[in-house]
Amino acid sequence: MSATTKTAARKALPAELGTVPAHVAIIMDGNGRWAASRGLPRIAGHRAGAMAVRRTIEAALHHGVAWLTLYAFSSENWRRPAGEVNDLTTLLRHYVKSEIAELAAHGVRLRVIGEAARFPDDIQASLGAAERATRANARLNLTIALSYGGRAEIVAAARRAAAAIAAGEIDPAALDEAAFGRLLFTDGMPDPDLIIRTSGEQRLSNFLLWQAAYAELVFLNVLWPDFGAVQFAEALADYASRERRFGARPG
Ligand code: FPP
Repeated sequence: MSATTKTAARKALPAELGTVPAHVAIIMDGNGRWAASRGLPRIAGHRAGAMAVRRTIEAALHHGVAWLTLYAFSSENWRRPAGEVNDLTTLLRHYVKSEIAELAAHGVRLRVIGEAARFPDDIQASLGAAERATRANARLNLTIALSYGGRAEIVAAARRAAAAIAAGEIDPAALDEAAFGRLLFTDGMPDPDLIIRTSGEQRLSNFLLWQAAYAELVFLNVLWPDFGAVQFAEALADYASRERRFGARPG
């Protein structure tokens, strides 16, 4: 079969029959615009965004996606007005408490990546408890990126590598991509196969910079609170239609 025929055949398959990405990562963007377009305060958009998170987890479970990573709060989001940061923190506190039992019941394992230590103690405690309570689950690995920044993650890993080298614990020649990858927050996680960004913006905004090396990118013209099963399936179908070569020439 020629490469063109193969691509055409893949295009004809619905997401369920094509290649399902093992790891989907999502930049959830557009909550503010969703709220503004309705004359509502920004927190209303974030609340509606939390409902979209729920629908997305259901969709990931439905399609058999094993890893789902959501960019919920970037390192840069601390620069937003104190009121909005406080609203987002309150929403996160409420979300973890109200959803964890259901997530656990559906075989979801929760992980947090980022500088969770910058959040209030009670949130850190409930996130830690949720991670421990779901550690044995394997159906869906749900990772929430909180106070996460890709450059900061890489710098922290470089600092750790430098310290280990200075202490004579690592031979610089042994520091290859795999060894460096183990120093990142995402140690033990596969790289994302598909990164989705909503709201029409087309950039990574400091999300999974190292890990995104070979990810397929899908940009959707939908605001995050309007995202659901239909858009998730659409992104999976787009992914299934692509030919991934990881830098190699077509065979
Ligand atoms: C981007 O929209 C969204 C965020 C900064 C926060 C994401 C939070 C949620 C989806 C809800 C809570 C999630 C969890 C996991 C509890 P924006 O505010 O940048 O929108 P705009 O670009 O339209 O202003």
